Amino acid sequence: MMKIAVAGTGYVGLVAGVSFAEMGHQVTCVDIDEKKVASMRSGYSPIYETGLEELMKKNYTSGRIDYTTNYHEAYRNADAIFIGVGTPEQPDGSANLSYIATVARQIAESVEKDCLVVVKSTVPVGTNDKVDQFIQDFLVNDVRIEVASNPEFLAQGSAVHDTLYAERVIIGTESKWAEDILKKIYEPFNLPIVSVNRRSAEMIKYASNDFLALKISYMNDIANLCELVGADIQDVARGMSFDERIGSKFLNAGIGYGGSCFPKDTKALDYIAQQNGYELKTVRAAIDVNKEQKTMLYKKARNRLITFSGLKVAVLGLTFKPGTDDLREAASLENVPLLLEQGADIYAFDPVGKENFSNVYPEGANGKGHITYVESVEDALSGANVCFIFTEWGEVKAVTPEKYKQLMRTPLVFDGRNIYSIEEMSSANVEYHSIGRKTVERGKSEGVVSDELQTSRY
Ligand code: UDX
Repeated sequence: MMKIAVAGTGYVGLVAGVSFAEMGHQVTCVDIDEKKVASMRSGYSPIYETGLEELMKKNYTSGRIDYTTNYHEAYRNADAIFIGVGTPEQPDGSANLSYIATVARQIAESVEKDCLVVVKSTVPVGTNDKVDQFIQDFLVNDVRIEVASNPEFLAQGSAVHDTLYAERVIIGTESKWAEDILKKIYEPFNLPIVSVNRRSAEMIKYASNDFLALKISYMNDIANLCELVGADIQDVARGMSFDERIGSKFLNAGIGYGGSCFPKDTKALDYIAQQNGYELKTVRAAIDVNKEQKTMLYKKARNRLITFSGLKVAVLGLTFKPGTDDLREAASLENVPLLLEQGADIYAFDPVGKENFSNVYPEGANGKGHITYVESVEDALSGANVCFIFTEWGEVKAVTPEKYKQLMRTPLVFDGRNIYSIEEMSSANVEYHSIGRKTVERGKSEGVVSDELQTSRY
């Protein structure tokens, strides 16, 4: 059992802290927010994550985890201190390291015994060296402190599982002493450990995330070409997936990647390359393709409808992916303002993201448009002239093609997640635009849809 302190209780810090406690370590999570600390002590998680609250309650009750704002007390006699604070993106794409610096200074002024400081936050290559130097500069007591890198690979929505059953644990150290401490901490997890130096560990994080982002942008690029040449991206992806060198995961074309990692980490690595006088062309391309992909459907819909003014627009899904209430870099945030600008009357459904979204776009009039948050997919679709699917929530996937036909005033669907099969939508007589596949037109007997749409009000 090791005495561990964790700085920051966001996705990275809290999930790491809870996982260490679950594996038998004695953990104290530090956050600057008193209210947040009080609510975590009562067993409430500040983030929406499957299984997290159960583990928080269980380990708090058994005394293996506690939460505090008193960093001095938490760091003073810890064996290891994990830093999991944010490194938000700055306007130039670089990472803001000021939260890391604040914690590093607090550590330097608090520690009273030998201790390993472990950076879990995603940081530019070379940051661990700087944190190490920074801590040595401010160190108050005569103790041994070393900094190690231990990047995090969890995905939101499956964070606890991804940590407890990680495919690998990357540890970046500069001494046997540091390596041994980290190995001891991870011993009870029984996971494959890859031990490298600090800079390589920092790079593994960026290289992994950016590779996945690149994979998605590549599929989106191919999808756009599929549309032009009459191929079907889902069939293409299926055909590719049998090649083990390519793999079957992360081949889904869609409305572009969002979230807290891919957008930030691609831009950060691009920035690091530029700073070093190198042009990282592949990553740059992934960024560019993703930017355009986000509004691809909107542009298709605008061409089809000419204007959204006075139309009832159903928006299904607001979060950047299902299983999270996180809106960071979500396609909805790019598209909803464009629709509102055009005077759309939006009815938005999301099982958990409504509250966060309404903080950005409050219910009611928004510029030329209007937004209403509804409790069910059916409420969003009733009487709608057009529907956009931005997130593949189970609640959305459960809607049958016939429902669109039944409930919408005009069954016209723009699907950014390729949820439905072309055949199903075609036999339900729904006009269906998706990504990298052919458009399903409605049968001639239905008349010309666009004329009806332009004059219709619900
Ligand atoms: C990601 C990585 O998976 C994780 O390892 C890393 O630590 C943090 O970033 P996360 O952002 O939570 O995790 O979600 P992920 O499931 O990877 O999806 C990211 C984005 O890519 C979502 O917007 C998702 O919709 C999109 N995506 C994913 C696709 O468009 N196509 C795919 O095939 C897969």
